[in-house]
Amino acid sequence: MENFWSDYIQTTEELYLSRDLRFTDANKDLWLSAIGAKSGGKILEIGCAGGAFCHKIKKYIPDTDITGIDLDTAHIEFAKKKSIELGINCNFTRGDALDLPFENETFDLCYSHTVAEHIPHKPFYKEQKRVLKKGGRITVLSVRTRLGLKDGNFPQMCGEELSLFEKAWGRAKNFDAEHDIGKYEIDEHEYPKELEKAGFGNISVKMFTVMDYAPDSADVSDETAMKQINSRRIGVLSSVQKALKIAPDALSDAEKGRLLKLINNRFDERIEKYKNGQKLWDFSSSTVLAVSGIKP
Ligand SMILES: C[S@@+](CC[C@H](N)C(=O)[O-])C[C@H]1O[C@@H](n2cnc3c(N)ncnc32)[C@H](O)[C@@H]1O
Repeated sequence: MENFWSDYIQTTEELYLSRDLRFTDANKDLWLSAIGAKSGGKILEIGCAGGAFCHKIKKYIPDTDITGIDLDTAHIEFAKKKSIELGINCNFTRGDALDLPFENETFDLCYSHTVAEHIPHKPFYKEQKRVLKKGGRITVLSVRTRLGLKDGNFPQMCGEELSLFEKAWGRAKNFDAEHDIGKYEIDEHEYPKELEKAGFGNISVKMFTVMDYAPDSADVSDETAMKQINSRRIGVLSSVQKALKIAPDALSDAEKGRLLKLINNRFDERIEKYKNGQKLWDFSSSTVLAVSGIKP
């Protein structure tokens, strides 16, 4: 299935917006140094989805040559269109992380963000080592969900909305596990060991935390606050869309319409409160682990 990820796991739009909010101008020194992107480098992002990260690196370090690769055709088509829209010159190509369509020793840097947990580690790193130049760097970024702050004060799904949501997901709830999503997730401390086993040296570990949802914070502009709230909305709506792709008859048309309405009402009310100056302090954060190594 060429569009498996965007159809059944996360839509391109959902991923692009969430990464845009996670890796911002304000925290760029944190994530640029964790990745290790350098001026003049030939860089490969593996599992790039809609290309949000590639676009950002190119924006801050324009004299890099960046290629993004992903298995999902819709992600890659989106990334190409978005590059034209933004006037940013990156290369995007569809391909498999386990069979990269590049010559040996092509890149100075290979990095990935929230991809390693879905792919067997050994062949994933072996293939990156093959396409890296000697002295080239691998960086594996992963979000440590259990270390992130949850948005405790955000108006939670409850009542009829929750019942319909659970009904939509009834038959779909084992889908991710059945398709090996997150199957290769490992403890933080195992990532450096995997890179050592793959033959990388000079292993280093970094962690950083970003506030990717804090609409009430004084340093967040109105425009970003709206994006943050709507990014949450898109996440929930995409989740319903995913459940109904997996089990299309889980809800009647009327139930589906009602569920979408209730979800939208909840987010509209959150936006109303924001506009009225009523603060909820429903902030949350993401903590990112970056493990890197050098090809000897
Ligand atoms: C959790 S998403 C992360 C996407 C992107 N790195 C980001 O953070 O927005 C995982 C991505 O890995 C891609 N992917 C999964 N298996 C892959 C493979 N074998 N080769 C290339 N891409 C793959 C999926 O299509 C998806 O876009």
